[in-house]
Amino acid sequence: MTVPVVDLRSDTLTRPTREMRAAMVDAEVGDDVYGEDPTVAALEAWVAALLGHEAALFMPTGSMANQVGLRLHAGPGQEVITDHLAHVLRAELGAAAAFSGITTRSWVADRGLLDVDTALAVMVPDGGAYQVSTACVVVENTHNFGGGTVQPLADLRRLREATAAVGVGVHLDGARLWNAHVASGVALADYGACADTVSVCLSKGLGAPVGSLLVADATRIGQARVWRKRLGGGMRQVGMLAAAGLYALDHHLDRLADDHARARRVAEAVALVAPGVVDPATVETNILVLDAAAAGRTGAELATAAAEGGVLGYPMGPRHTRFVWHLDVDDELTDRATDVLTDLLRRRGA
Ligand SMILES: Cc1ncc(COP(=O)(O)O)c(C=O)c1O
Repeated sequence: MTVPVVDLRSDTLTRPTREMRAAMVDAEVGDDVYGEDPTVAALEAWVAALLGHEAALFMPTGSMANQVGLRLHAGPGQEVITDHLAHVLRAELGAAAAFSGITTRSWVADRGLLDVDTALAVMVPDGGAYQVSTACVVVENTHNFGGGTVQPLADLRRLREATAAVGVGVHLDGARLWNAHVASGVALADYGACADTVSVCLSKGLGAPVGSLLVADATRIGQARVWRKRLGGGMRQVGMLAAAGLYALDHHLDRLADDHARARRVAEAVALVAPGVVDPATVETNILVLDAAAAGRTGAELATAAAEGGVLGYPMGPRHTRFVWHLDVDDELTDRATDVLTDLLRRRGA
């Protein structure tokens, strides 16, 4: 009997379920560049309503939704600021500079947690002829490289008020806003109210094969439509993909709580045998980041050792390894991950 690999490298690895595939096959479609795909239109309307904004635009990827969002706030020679672990800075391959001529500055943030005072201190709303002007602050919720951190609503609100008062925009990278919503109980619309533009992904914990949306007011979404096409993201009979997103929102949103509980359960087990490798209280959603260095290994060494035991993680820098729970990892696979990780860390670290 072959033992299945527990693939916790990312929540992007999910494969569409049989039911999701059936929904895709049956989707009504049209040419979405002409605005004629009814399934895409239904998805856009639903997501915009969930987030309390006027409109939404279906995009192929979260990166494109972020980058088009940033382009709506800032142009060449302007800056966007965010924390040093933000996906838009670290993992979108310099797209803001490469496509939009946008410069960026950042500050060091513990677990990617929003530090409003620092953000406001870094921001330069009107740099005049001497300094780069800040057009936008980006907040990531939940924070991926921060370890699935949920941003406190009170901080998001304070940032929103202070930036709006000086004409600086807020973009929310909400690739995993669904996880924040399920973990915190904060309504999606309350998060939505804290930003001018929001990106959300369907292809992470929600389990759709592809798809993200940019959400904003109708004027901005009109501009976003132009930028999406300009960047080559205008898609045609894409209702089949939107149908996967509709299915995911209908069936896979509430179950994110299971992923959160499983990640926390493993964190608690690891903390028992290797205190210092993880503080379970910091595991708020579906992402578990282990401090491999606290157990005498590099992030890559821990990932390799875990892989030898059939548990795949993602080395995150020299000292950390990330494990992400999702739709395809059930309780049984989680128990296997617990056994492999506690065994490894007990032997070497505890
Ligand atoms: C926080 C965050 N934002 C944006 C993205 C980009 O999504 P995509 O891979 O669809 O471009 C990711 C991908 O993992 C992410 O974690």
